[in-house]
Amino acid sequence: MTMQLENDLLLRVANGASVERPPVWLMRQAGRILPQYRALRANFPDFKAFVKNPAAASEATIQPVDELGVDAAIIFSDILVVPEAMGLDYEMIEAKGPKFPTTIEQASDVEQLRSGAEAAASLSYVWEALALTKSNLQGRVPLIGFAGAPWTIFAYMVEGGGSKTFSKARRMLYQQPETSHALLQKITDTTIAYLQGQIKHGADLIQLFDSWAGELTPEQYREFAAPYLAQIAKALPEVPKTVFAKGAWFALEDFAEMPWQVVGLDWNIPPAFARARVGADKALQGNFDPCALYGSAETIRERALEMVRAFGPKHIVNLGHGVYPDTPLEGVRTFVQTIQSVRY
Ligand code: CP3
Repeated sequence: MTMQLENDLLLRVANGASVERPPVWLMRQAGRILPQYRALRANFPDFKAFVKNPAAASEATIQPVDELGVDAAIIFSDILVVPEAMGLDYEMIEAKGPKFPTTIEQASDVEQLRSGAEAAASLSYVWEALALTKSNLQGRVPLIGFAGAPWTIFAYMVEGGGSKTFSKARRMLYQQPETSHALLQKITDTTIAYLQGQIKHGADLIQLFDSWAGELTPEQYREFAAPYLAQIAKALPEVPKTVFAKGAWFALEDFAEMPWQVVGLDWNIPPAFARARVGADKALQGNFDPCALYGSAETIRERALEMVRAFGPKHIVNLGHGVYPDTPLEGVRTFVQTIQSVRY
C-alpha cells in the first residue's frame, strides 16, 4: 500500500508540478547541529555502530523534521558505506573524518573488490532503516535516499581519506585510466543495486553527492564522472533523482542531457547561469551559503528571500553544501521559517 503524503511539496517540484512555495531541507540536517542528535550519538561507541542500527538511524532521520519542520527527511547514513560493502573497510575518526587503512593502488586491488547486488546485499541495514523510517514518518514528508557519486567514492578509496589536493586519485586517472574505469564501473554497479534497494524500501527521491566533482578538469569530468552518473540516473526510473556535483559548474549542460529531475547547485553558481545551462524543465536545488546562517536573523531573512526571487519557481531551497556542525540552530530555524512564509 502506498501512503499518501501530507506534505509532498518536494516531490511536486521534482516532478515539474507548480507549488505555492518552495520546499526547504538542508544537506546534513540529520547531524550535529541538533542537540538531540548529539545525545543519541553518545549512546554509541562510534559513528559506524550508530549508522548500522536501524532504530537509531531512523530516529536521527526524523529529528530535523520534528525540530525544524523541514519539508523532507534524508536517511541517516553515510556515502562511505558503499566502499565498505565492496570490501574496503573505513574508520570514522572522531573530529577528524574518515580513514581507510588500505587503499586502491592497482588493477589487482580492483579485481578483489565485491560489486553489484552481491556487495549491496551487505547494506540491508540501510534498507531496514529506510523501511522503518518510512513507517515512523507516517507520510508527514517525503524520505530522501542517497549515495555518493562514483568519482567521489573513487577519490576516498584511492586517497584513503579526505585530501587538500586529491592528487593521488587524480594521478591515477592519468597513470592508470583503464584501472580507473574498472573501479568506477564496480562502484557504479554497486551503487545502482544499493539505490534500487533504497527505492524498494521507501525512498521517495534519490540524491547523488559528488562532493569532489570540482577537483576534476571539465574534460576529465566528461570522461570519468559524467558517464557513470548517466548510468545511475537511467537505471532508476521509478523515482525523481537529484544530482549534486559540488564545484562542477562546467557539467551543468551534461546533466541537462541526463534523466535527473533536479540539479543541485553550490553557492558559487548564480541561479541564472544554472538555468541557462540546465534548461527550463528541471528543478534547481540550493544554494544558500552555509556560512550565511551564522549571520543575524535580519541578514538571513534578506538573503534567503533574495535567493528565492533569483531562482523563481522550479526551485528546492537548500544550502550550497552541508550545514556546518557548529551552526547556530536559531539561524537554521530563521532560514527554514523564512522560506516557509514565502508565497509565489
Ligand atoms: O544529510 C544528512 O543529514 C544525512 C546523513 C549524511 C551524513 N553524511 C552523516 C554524517 C549524509 C547525506 C552524508 C554524506 C556525506 N558523507 C558526504 C557527501 C556530502 C558532503 O558533505 O559533501 C561526504 C563527503 C561524507 C563523508 C564524511 N562523513 C566525512 C568527510 C565525515 C567527517 C566529517 C564530518 O562531518 O564529521 C563524515 C561523518 C559524518 N557523516 C557525520 C554525520 C552526521 C559526523 C560524524 C558523527 O556524528 O560522529
